[in-house]
Amino acid sequence: MEINQLLKKGVDLIKDRPYTNPVLEATLLLSQLLNVDRIYIYTHGREKVEGAIVEKFLELMEMRKEGYPLQYIIKKKEFMGLEFYVEEGVLIPRSDTEILVEYLLDYIDKKYKDTAIKLLDLGIGSGAIALSVAYYRKNVTVYGVDIYDTPLKVANINKERFKLDNVHLFKGDLFDGIEGIEGIEEEFHIIASNPPYIPKEDIDKLQEEVKDYEPREALDGGEDGLEFYRRIIPQSKKYLTHEGLLIFEIGYDQGQELRDMLLEEGFKNIEILKDLQGLDRVVLGVYEKELKE
Ligand SMILES: C[S@@+](CC[C@H](N)C(=O)[O-])C[C@H]1O[C@@H](n2cnc3c(N)ncnc32)[C@H](O)[C@@H]1O
Repeated sequence: MEINQLLKKGVDLIKDRPYTNPVLEATLLLSQLLNVDRIYIYTHGREKVEGAIVEKFLELMEMRKEGYPLQYIIKKKEFMGLEFYVEEGVLIPRSDTEILVEYLLDYIDKKYKDTAIKLLDLGIGSGAIALSVAYYRKNVTVYGVDIYDTPLKVANINKERFKLDNVHLFKGDLFDGIEGIEGIEEEFHIIASNPPYIPKEDIDKLQEEVKDYEPREALDGGEDGLEFYRRIIPQSKKYLTHEGLLIFEIGYDQGQELRDMLLEEGFKNIEILKDLQGLDRVVLGVYEKELKE
């Protein structure tokens, strides 16, 4: 079968799925199986594809038709210009999270240019936040914690992939992950987290790709979605430096509650950043430690 014909078959298989870009997805998958880039697929439409690859492609497109995420099939997701390895069991990095990372890169340059600082990321997943910051800002030593094995394994694979020696990853329940570890002075200039924040009963309303295949442990923020923020905010005060920054990704309707929670715990300079759709996406605040204690 020729590339063009095969591509069309693949596109037809998934064209009725909601939230898909059938041509892009089929092209990405076929280019991966043929070990060529996407342009090659568009410019070599008449080239013949060998039978084994045709079969494999159609088998994987059938999985995609059932809602299995493309990124778990091709085992990669681009985030902040870096190609992250992903597999089932780890949250697929979202472009919305780039808002948080971009804010941090800018903040680090403004406040800590050429100063060695430490950042802690709670709930690293594939390493999207932690590893992007470590990759783009070498003055930052990054510590990452996750409670589950697969995210830790995947983040370590990505750490190797990007050749980062300014990253240290630990297993544990939020701050317990770095508690008592030799060599870590337990104060961080920045604490970042994209914790699970979907209210439990909303998870089943999400698209199939997410609710059926992405890890629930990465989504479930308890009854009202705010469980992790309720734990992290008060505890973070012990682990932040004076004027340390606490920054979270949040759900589109959680901005006001998060602002209130941060204010209540004594955080200052609270800001809410919006995503490209104009919805609340990131909240941050600064803790003036010496003044409080
Ligand atoms: C929404 S995902 C974010 C992953 C990644 N930071 C990103 O932005 O793509 C939340 C992560 O928190 C982890 N997690 C859940 N409960 C945790 C806990 N109690 N302690 C540490 N990590 C936890 C999950 O395994 C998951 O990797």
